[in-house]
Amino acid sequence: MPASTIKTPRSRSLKGIAGVREPKLLFAKQLQKAPGLEAASTTPAPTPYPAAFRTRMADSAGNSVPGIHMAAEDPVLLLGRWLRQQGYHFVTTTPATHARVNARPGTGVAQSLQDVFGWSRPFSPALLPAPVLRWLEDGDVIESCNGLLRSKVRFSTLADSLFVHSAYPTADDDSVFFGPDSYRFAALIQRTLAQSRAKVDRIVDIGCGTGAGGIIAAQTLKHAAAKVILTDINAAALRYARVNAELAATLNTSFRQGDLFEVINEPVDVIVANPPYLLDPAARFYRHGGGELGSGLSTRIVLEGLPRLTAQGMLILYTGSPILEGRDLFWESIASAVQIPSLQFEYAELDPDVFGEELDTPGYSQVDRIAAVALVVYKIGPDLIIHSPADR
Ligand SMILES: C[S@@+](CC[C@H](N)C(=O)[O-])C[C@H]1O[C@@H](n2cnc3c(N)ncnc32)[C@H](O)[C@@H]1O
Repeated sequence: MPASTIKTPRSRSLKGIAGVREPKLLFAKQLQKAPGLEAASTTPAPTPYPAAFRTRMADSAGNSVPGIHMAAEDPVLLLGRWLRQQGYHFVTTTPATHARVNARPGTGVAQSLQDVFGWSRPFSPALLPAPVLRWLEDGDVIESCNGLLRSKVRFSTLADSLFVHSAYPTADDDSVFFGPDSYRFAALIQRTLAQSRAKVDRIVDIGCGTGAGGIIAAQTLKHAAAKVILTDINAAALRYARVNAELAATLNTSFRQGDLFEVINEPVDVIVANPPYLLDPAARFYRHGGGELGSGLSTRIVLEGLPRLTAQGMLILYTGSPILEGRDLFWESIASAVQIPSLQFEYAELDPDVFGEELDTPGYSQVDRIAAVALVVYKIGPDLIIHSPADR
C-alpha cells in the first residue's frame, strides 16, 4: 500500500481529556505497519454523526431516560459499525490471561485496532481517524492515560457479531461483562436451541449484560417474529445491549431495567440467563451473585423463572456452583424445584474448575472448587406453582 494513501488524523484537542498531545509523525509511520489499521487506511473516513443527537436518550417506549442512548443515535454504534467494516475481530480472554499478555514487553502502547479495542491498551490519538476519536469522546467512552488515550469500551467477536462491553480491567460497579463465560453460555444456547422444534414467540435474557445470550438465542431460532426482551439491573449494560442488538440486526428487541423478573409480566417461551455467581466483596453488578457462596441470583432465576414459562417453554441457565466437600450447593438449592413431573431437565458440569483464584479469598476458604454448570429445564406439563424452599 503506498504511504500516500494513508490519511493522518486531523490534529485536534479532545474536550475534557487531559494530556492529549498532537499526533507525532513518528507515530504516523508506525501506523502504516499496524496490521489492524491497514484496512482502516484504505476505506473512506467515517462520517461523523450529527452533534444534535448526542444528548437524546429514550427507553423502548420512546420516553426520555437519563443514561440510556437510543442505539441508532449512539456514537458507540457508529464505532462498532466502523470496526466491522475494518474486518476487526477479537476474542476476549480471562482477566488473568489479559493481564499476562499485556505485561509482555512491547505491549505498552497500542499499535492496532485489536490493541485499542480488544486489549484495552493506551493509544496515541494519531492511531485513529478523527471521526473515530470523536465518537469515543461523544459516546463518553474515552479517558486519558499517562499522556495517551484509552478506550473505556472493548469490542469482542462472538459468532458473526461484534459485542461492545467494558474495557479491561472491569473494576467499576457498573462494568459491563463479556468473557469466556459468555462464550460457554452462547455455545450452550446454540446447541440447546438448535434441536428445538417448539414455536417461540418470546425470548427473555435475564441479566443480559451485552445482550449476547438473547441475541444468540434469536439468531439460532431464526423465528423472525419472536420478541427478544433483554433485561438487566445495570443501565450501562442496557446501553451496550441496544448497540449490540443493532450491530447484530436482531429484530423485535426491547430492553428493560430491573431486578430479575420484576420487569417480566408476560409468559415466556425461552428464558436464558448467565447471572453473576461469585461472592464479590465490592458487590459489582456483573460479579456478585449473593446468597450462599454466590448462588443467590441463580437460585432465584430458577424459582422465579419456571412459573413464567409457557407450556413447552424452556429455561437455559449457565452459572457457577461452589463445590464443598463434594456437595454441589447450587444444585441442592434447586433440586426439589426441577424434580417434579411437569418438568424435564438436564444438569451438567461444563467445566469442573473456574475462577480458581477466588479460593484464596476469605469467603471461599471452605470451598474445594467452583464448577461452571448448565441447567436446561423443559416444561412438559400444566402451569406450575413453585414455592421457594423457605415455604416448604
Ligand atoms: C456475569 S454477567 C453476564 C452477562 C451476560 N449474560 C453474558 O453472558 O455475557 C451478569 C449480568 O447480570 C446482571 N445482574 C446482576 N444482578 C442482577 C439482577 N438482580 N437483576 C438483573 N440483572 C442482574 C449484571 O448487571 C450483569 O450484566
